[in-house]
Formats: sequence, C-alpha cells, structure tokens
Amino acid sequence: MSLSLRFILPLLLVLTAIGYGIVPLVDKLTLRWFVRDLDIRAELIANSLQEPLSDQLKAAKPAKTQVYLTRLIQDERLFGLIFCPQSGTAPIATKGVPAQASCENTARYVDPEARVLESAQGLLHVAVRPIEHEGTTLGKLMLLHDMSFIERRSEETKRYVFFFFTALALVVSLLTVAIAQLSWRGWIKGMRALLRGEGLLREPGTQAPAPEFMPIARDLRALIREMESEVRPRDEAQITWTPEALRTILHSELSGEEVLVVSNREPYIHVRRGQRIDVQRPASGLVTALEPIMRACSGTWIAHGSGNADREAVDGNDRVAVPPEHPAYQLRRVWLSAAQEAGYYYGFANEGLWPLCHIAHVRPIFRTADWQQYREVNALFADAVVQEAKKPNPIVLVQDYHLALLPRMIRERLPEAIVITFWHIPWPNPEAFSICPWRREILDGLLGSSILGFHTQFHCNNFVDTVDRELEARVNREAFTVTRGGKATSVKRYPISIDWPPQAELTEQSVDVCRETVRRRHGQSPDHLLGVGVDRLDYTKGVIERLRAVERLLELEPSWIGRFSFVQIAAPTRTSIGEYQNYEAHVRALADEINQRFGRGAYTPIILKIEHHEPPDVYEYYRAADLCFVSSLHDGMNLVAKEFVAARDDGRGVLILSQFTGAARELPEALIVNPYNADQCAAALHLALTMPRVEQRDRMRLMRGLIGEFNVYRWAGRMLLDAAGMRRREKVLEQGGTWLVGER
Ligand code: F6P
Repeated sequence: MSLSLRFILPLLLVLTAIGYGIVPLVDKLTLRWFVRDLDIRAELIANSLQEPLSDQLKAAKPAKTQVYLTRLIQDERLFGLIFCPQSGTAPIATKGVPAQASCENTARYVDPEARVLESAQGLLHVAVRPIEHEGTTLGKLMLLHDMSFIERRSEETKRYVFFFFTALALVVSLLTVAIAQLSWRGWIKGMRALLRGEGLLREPGTQAPAPEFMPIARDLRALIREMESEVRPRDEAQITWTPEALRTILHSELSGEEVLVVSNREPYIHVRRGQRIDVQRPASGLVTALEPIMRACSGTWIAHGSGNADREAVDGNDRVAVPPEHPAYQLRRVWLSAAQEAGYYYGFANEGLWPLCHIAHVRPIFRTADWQQYREVNALFADAVVQEAKKPNPIVLVQDYHLALLPRMIRERLPEAIVITFWHIPWPNPEAFSICPWRREILDGLLGSSILGFHTQFHCNNFVDTVDRELEARVNREAFTVTRGGKATSVKRYPISIDWPPQAELTEQSVDVCRETVRRRHGQSPDHLLGVGVDRLDYTKGVIERLRAVERLLELEPSWIGRFSFVQIAAPTRTSIGEYQNYEAHVRALADEINQRFGRGAYTPIILKIEHHEPPDVYEYYRAADLCFVSSLHDGMNLVAKEFVAARDDGRGVLILSQFTGAARELPEALIVNPYNADQCAAALHLALTMPRVEQRDRMRLMRGLIGEFNVYRWAGRMLLDAAGMRRREKVLEQGGTWLVGER
C-alpha cells in the first residue's frame, strides 16, 4: 500500500467516526449531565425558598410576591419563576415566561425529556417543586432555567472533542505509517537475511549463520522453489500451444522481448541454377523445429549464409526477409571463408564434436587448427548478435554444438541478455567427453547460458556429471543448476517437437492420392506395400542397419519378395568429410547388393533416393507408406518419427523406432527396436506389414495425441516461460538481495 494511502485512510476513518459517532454522543451525554445539574439546582433553590416564599404568600399580596420572584431571577441562569397556587387562583409569574410553561398538568414535568422546553427564548429547563408550610401544600413553584449556557458549553465541548480526535487521528496515522515502514523494511531485511542464512540467524560477532537456523532458511528456499515449479507446469498444461499462444506469451510474459535465434544452418538457402535462383529448405531437424517458432515470434535468425546465391539475396545489412512467400522474420547471414567453414563446421563441429557426442563408433578427430577456426567463427557469430540486438537485454536462442562458445561470448558482451542454449544432439558420459582436448573451454562456453536445454533427462545428467568432473563449478543436483563465476545455468530437459497440426499444404493431397502417385512413380501395383526412411545421409542414422533389416526380412519371410519395397530418402550431407563419402558409398553398395539378390524384373526391394527433397515431397512419401522405419544408432530426438505420425491423419501406418532415439521415450506405441539386432528389426517389419488396421489406428491415435499436445510451440514456449521467470527473478533480486543467484 502506498505511503499516502497508509496515511490518509486512518485519518479519513477517524474523521468519519468523529462526525457520525463521537460528536452526537458527546452532545447527548453533556445535555443529560446538565439537565441533571439543573434538577439539583432547582431542588436547592426551591428548598431555600420554602420559608421566605411561604411568608410572602401568607401576606396574600400577589404583586409583592411577583416582585419578590423577579428579584430572585437576577441569577443569570434562572430565566423565570411561576408560582401555581394550590387554591386554583391565578398563577404568579415573572415577566417573559413562555406560554407553554403553564400551571396546567405540571405532572408532565416528571419526564426528564419534557423538562427541556423549546421556546421562542431558546431552550429552557423546567422544574416543578411543591411549596409547603407546616405540612400544608401552598402550591407548586415552577423554576425555568436558561439552557443557552448549556448549548454554548456543548458547542465548546464539541469543538474540543473534534480538535482532540483530529489531532489524535493525525498522530495515529503518522505512527501507522512509521511503524508500517519500519516493520516492512525490517521484515524484508529479516527475510532476506534469513534466506541468505545470516542476519537474524548470524552467530553473535561472526558472519557465519547459526547452524541451528540453517534448516529454516533451507526449507524456505525449497518452499519457494516448489511453489515456482508448481506454478509453471500448471500454467503450461493449461495453454493450448499454437503460434498465437507463443506470441501472446512473448508479449504478456516477456513484454514483447526481442528474440534472436542463432544457428549454423540457415532456414532458407538461395541456390543459383543457371539464370534462376531457387530457395531451398534444408533437411534439418533444427530448422524444422525453429522455423515455425520464428514465424510466430518475428525476430531475427542469425545463421551461416551457405548458399551459392545467398549474397545476391541479402540487403546492405546482410539481411533478407523470409519466408520468401510471406515474410515474417529477418534472416541475417554471417559469411565464412572456405577455411573457416572447413575448420569450424566440417572439422571441429562435424569431425570432432559430432562423433564425440553420438555413440556411432566413429572416432572423433580433434585438430588444433580446427579449434582455432571454431573459436574465430563463434566470435563472428557473437559480433552478429551484438549488431542485431536492438536492446541490451534480448532473448538469444543459441542452437547446437556448432556454437558452444557463443553463450559465454554473449554473456560477456551483453550481460543483461537471456541466453537459452539448446543442444540438439546427445551429450555423452564424462568418460567419453574427456576425449576432447578443449572440453573445459566447451563446458565454460556453454555455462554462459541462462538455460541449457537437452532432449532427455539422461543427457542433462551426463552434462552435469561432466561439469562436476571437469570444472570448478557448484552443481546443485536438486535444482539442476550449475553455478560458475557467480552465475547460474539451469540445465533442463525440453524434448523438441514439430509444428502441429502440420501446415495445410503438406497434407492437402489425400492419402489415397499419395499412395497411388508414389506407386505409379515406382511402377508398383496399387496393393504393393511400402516402407519409408527419411534421413540426412549420416552414419548416425543407421541406414546400413535399416537396409540389412529389410534384407533379413526378405530372407526370413520370402513371401514379401515382390510385394514389399523400402524407399530410402537420403539428403546428402557434409559431403566434404571422408566418413560421409564412405558412408554414402557403403549405402549405395548395400542397396545394390540387396536389389540384386531379391529384385525380380520390375521389382526393386530398395529404392534409394539420395537427393534433396522439399517437405511436400517428403510428406507425400509419409502418406503413401505403410510403415516408416527410424533406425538411428544414436539420436537426440529424431523428428522424422514425429513427422510421420503427424502426416498420418488417416490413422494408418506403423512406426518402427530405434530405442536409441529421444523420440522412443515419448512414443512407446511405436514398435521399438534395437537397430543393431537385424532379426528383431526384421520381425518388427513383418509385424508392421501384417498389423491389423484397428491396432494401427489405436497406436497412431495415442502417438498423435502426444505430439499434438507436446508440439514445437510448447517446446519453445516452455523455454520462454522459464526465461520470463528468470527475468522476473532477476528484477526482484536487483531490488535487493542476491540469495537466489548463489543457489539456483
Ligand atoms: O542433429 C543435429 C543437427 O543440428 C540437427 O538439428 C540437424 O538436423 C542436423 O544436425 C543438421 O546438420 P547440418 O546442418 O550439418 O546439415
């Protein structure tokens, strides 16, 4: 409550009380007391007049009696006297007595209220007393007292009462304000001290908290954390996660904060084909997830301009508005030299960190020259972030293993920024990670983030274990925070997802039409069964294992020969790296081998499509297929699994999913397999091809329900809500106290 309210409110209350309660009460009481006084006075006068008045009456000279009575009213309070004779003869009255005061019915003056007479001369008090002589009643004496002095006194009393209580109210109000201020400050101070485990709790003469009070502070902190964590999921679950919901959160929770996304891969690549410039959408889970978010949030996406016509498409600030059809956000391109791209992207990121983090049995290669390029390019991205930030406190969403040093660089240059880093690939155990010669620099770079997200809790645990082993940092396993250099990073699980429902253009062609079109394209009959795999041609995706599983199926269940084919869509990726070249060659050779072994005439068991496909083409295959096989040897999440489910609004199709993907934890209704176990995978293929439609529909319904609820807007929204909470907390802490910083 504001100071003025705390002051004015009690004052108003007291003044109202004076006006409507105290003054009328005082008025009534003083009147009653004065009436009683006048009664006594009248009694006294009447008693002292008994004899002299009797003598006067005995003389039977009314005129003289009147003079006598007139003399008596020289008393300033006595207004008049009337003698009412017992004999019924004419009353003897002093001059000026009002007509209402008559000798008739004098008994009425027994009532105290009747004794106060309102007359033209003002208020008069009437008292009636008998006059007796030697036991005989001679008559009644009516004594009229002037009450104007009572009115005067009452006015005076009211004035005093008013001033007294007003002064009292002022003092009370001032005291209230003072006490409230003192106690609020004291309470806040006490609470802060308590929460810091000091202040009231401090041992006399030391800075150290008294140990017996520590549990209270700890419990309070735990309670606050518990309250916070209870609020967030409830709010999150109540939201219907759509682009609009995300926009609303951005404006309501983050007051329209500026959002910057930074990734190596750009969402749109301009490619020159002769005279024409085409816009390509890369095969990337990261892009699939973040593109709808950026369309909803309208910020700036900073990425490497890797297309051969990218420079032609940008403006003078290296920006281009995208999506090209309906621009919704800015794409800011960062240019890299061939040497930088080779060292940072192909070298350190994809020959070092990529195999290091994926257990796919490919040796990581770490070269010092690559590391130097990696550092240099991260610094280039940091420059771009600083240039693009319109305010000192943007929300920066840093993506993936290409930019592990960037969070710390941003923190140093924009200390007020909220940096949310998402690591899209798995995080290995500390032993595996210790291979990296620059592991400490990588960890320190990531700990520049406010929030560091992984797909699974398992990866969060691995990261925290790695920090614990490698760095000087405080690890809080209860709150899952790592504090280094006084700044805390919250390490959290945010399973990534996809746009839901998918964009209309992707599913506008009916499933029947897709089935027919694809089968016709490949010269197959309408009832030919089809499996599909969609990946970048990467050794982590288990494409070899997948083809081997198809081969095994045809071996074990020859009835499928001629009736079932598998279409593998494989987008070429990282083709300058030897390992990838070998992998492609291996896949091609294996597909040929299987086709030679089981192919008959026009029948081809493996249809290998090693080329880039745009999303509508991919969705056509998803919708045409009877099953989708995701056989990654290790994968952070794998969004192909979720896309296949999203594409099947007809409720048909079976998903076979590797147990080594993050998606397997969310989609247990898929047929979960170990890709290294060819027999098991072949059995899963057979099961999928023979699964009754009802079962397909039941499984599909459950998976669609989950993805619909946990779509990509929720993924981003949760991080933004957490960022908003963090910002709120920071504001509170700025106003005083730093206890959470050390704890969270
Ligand atoms: O899986 C990690 C990741 O960054 C994905 O998000 C994305 O699908 C893929 O790698 C992209 O690889 P690149 O950008 O090298 O083509």
